Amino acid sequence: MTDEEGQYRFVTIRPGAYPWKNDYNSWRPAHIHFSLFGPAFATRLVTQMYFSGDPLLAFDPIFNCTADEGARQRLISAFDWETTTPGHSLGFRFDIVLSGREATPMESPQGRR
Ligand SMILES: [Fe+2]
Repeated sequence: MTDEEGQYRFVTIRPGAYPWKNDYNSWRPAHIHFSLFGPAFATRLVTQMYFSGDPLLAFDPIFNCTADEGARQRLISAFDWETTTPGHSLGFRFDIVLSGREATPMESPQGRR
């Protein structure tokens, strides 16, 4: 749940790249799937968050199906000292914009991995 300012936070293991059988020696870059629910199930929005500097981003057909470079950049989280916990965990910031020109790209209603 987001707080009254629309902020969220969770702690998890940073994911790694994984192979998929889309092509010979193809790998998905590290990512986290987000499924956002509004006031009703029908308002579900799905997207993926990536990590900056991942060399697999340039080769990933899912990431690159977002045609606009600026929009693709909005799918990449930013390392964040403010949310990094000393001796425990790195912090990353991923601001999700629901609408407008700077909206975070979302997957189609038909869905995809
Ligand atoms: Fe995945």
